[in-house]
Amino acid sequence: MHTKRDFLGFSSLDAGKIIELFDYSLYIKNKRKESSSASGFLPLRDKTVAMIFSKPSLRTRVSFELGIHELGGYSITLDGQSIGLGTRESVEDIARLLARYNDAIVARLHEHAVIEGLAEHASIPVVNALTDLSHPCQVLADAFTLYEKSLWREGIKVVFVGDGNNVANSWIELAALLPFHFVLACPEGYTPNQELLNAAREKGISQIEIMHDPIEAVANADVLYTDVWTSMGREDEMAERLQIFKPFQINSALLAAAKPSAVVMHCMPAHRGQEISAEVMDGPQSIILDQAENRLHVQKALLVKLLNHEEYRKFHLTHRLLNAAKKIKA
Ligand code: CP
Ligand code: NVA
Repeated sequence: MHTKRDFLGFSSLDAGKIIELFDYSLYIKNKRKESSSASGFLPLRDKTVAMIFSKPSLRTRVSFELGIHELGGYSITLDGQSIGLGTRESVEDIARLLARYNDAIVARLHEHAVIEGLAEHASIPVVNALTDLSHPCQVLADAFTLYEKSLWREGIKVVFVGDGNNVANSWIELAALLPFHFVLACPEGYTPNQELLNAAREKGISQIEIMHDPIEAVANADVLYTDVWTSMGREDEMAERLQIFKPFQINSALLAAAKPSAVVMHCMPAHRGQEISAEVMDGPQSIILDQAENRLHVQKALLVKLLNHEEYRKFHLTHRLLNAAKKIKA
């Protein structure tokens, strides 16, 4: 029986499935060096994906559109306001209607409950491309970036410096599945979603700390991570946030308080001089553009997993067989 697979957050995955997805992302990334049409690798051939954007985007939109095209599929990008999601038409009708035309929905929305509504009423997979609550595609690509650089090791300490926002929430969701040490250094009153935090702590897989002193937080850190101080939709708080978040900038002094080998990450868009200084953003420890590029590879892998599970399974079976054969030989 075909089961519909959504990707609204990390709860649909487990540690093993994440590693599988990373291995497939590596395969997809290497495969890109050959042209897909020349290699005949078009696992999304004849598939169409409807993308709804109710907030601005550069990376997410480009990486999804390009990724779908490279895998042989077709994408249609819709503006959330103009289709009137929940205003001109109900979320339920839009979900059902899009499922008649398309094979998947990718959506960037305000309220997380709306994407849950889409997933509930669409018979096709729904992917969270950012909501006020979470940004799992981003954090999947971030963790993959550390994995492919062989930086992901036991007890890796990731310190998110800034707002307890959607990206921080997704890191916390990830910490419920993969073991690492996650620290959020945020101003008082800018803590992450309490439910996600409680749930991740209850799992007991990772050490998760919320701190308010950035210098103390980054001690012995392997990764310093940041994001904008004002997320989309909260623009009216910008002036106040600019003042409150001032001590939470990733700059040379803060970086010097981490491990000398620490890398710096940012999901972008970035504001040099606010959450990150220009010298750190553009410095040798920054792996920010690698993260952004990896959105493409990881999302392509995710779409194959969701839309062509046979192809995805075939890869893993072959991979396992080859590994087993290698062990026998050794
Ligand atoms: N990081 C990220 O999601 O970028 P966009 O908002 O430009 O898509
Ligand atoms: N926290 C940011 C992420 C942008 C990719 C926002 O929601 O605006």
